[in-house]
Amino acid sequence: MAPTAATLALSAKPHVHALLKRLHSASEAQEKSLSQSWFWFKRLLTSRLFTWKWDASADDHMRDKFVALEEDKCHFMYLLVRGSGALNVVEAGTSFGVDVSGRVIATEKEPTKAARAREHWAEAGDEVAGVIELREGDLLETLKRDDMPEQVDFLLLDIWTPLALPTLKIVQPRLKKGAIVLADNTTMARTWYKEYLDYIHDPVNGFKTTEIPYSGGLQMSVYLPGEVN
Ligand SMILES: C[S@@+](CC[C@H](N)C(=O)[O-])C[C@H]1O[C@@H](n2cnc3c(N)ncnc32)[C@H](O)[C@@H]1O
Repeated sequence: MAPTAATLALSAKPHVHALLKRLHSASEAQEKSLSQSWFWFKRLLTSRLFTWKWDASADDHMRDKFVALEEDKCHFMYLLVRGSGALNVVEAGTSFGVDVSGRVIATEKEPTKAARAREHWAEAGDEVAGVIELREGDLLETLKRDDMPEQVDFLLLDIWTPLALPTLKIVQPRLKKGAIVLADNTTMARTWYKEYLDYIHDPVNGFKTTEIPYSGGLQMSVYLPGEVN
């Protein structure tokens, strides 16, 4: 069989590849739909002209949406996790659970999304379901619990932008030196990410960082506290 982008990037059984293909296709179709394009267009425009912040109506709109990390970004993340030997991965924002790799603490506040994510992981089988701990509820609480791993090797910030910096600050004391932090859509939503980007660009906070030109932008940072600037 001819290789695909997914088989070139991921080690996974055929049924897991099939599941990922199905979920990515559904997510992509949803993101390209008129209603979803209109949602982003309206919010981005309003926030450029006035000051729009993430609100309850945006939460309502997103309740049944995938908003999954795009497939190419997932492949990149998977290879980073595998290549860096990351053991403990924290995923801020899980939704339907499309992008899992490593030993993962996943976080989701919407019960219906958490249930869908569990179904998908069960379908993938024990190799996937067995390495994920899903923390349901507000991640600003669930990631503060005492039963967090002592060391976090990888943090994915795939979350509504106002939560990016507060989440990083909660997890940062546990980040190992060399931990990788990815934040999604940092070019597309640059104004919404201002506080987060100001923080990781300030050398006193210990990050080295670069933006990877995936669609919407993907900010990759490495935690290297105490290094020269
Ligand atoms: C962009 S989606 C995550 C997509 C997922 N990483 C994927 O690739 O399939 C962000 C998710 O964060 C969830 N969320 C938003 N605020 C949250 C909070 N305070 N605590 C936990 N989850 C939250 C939303 O319900 C939404 O499903």
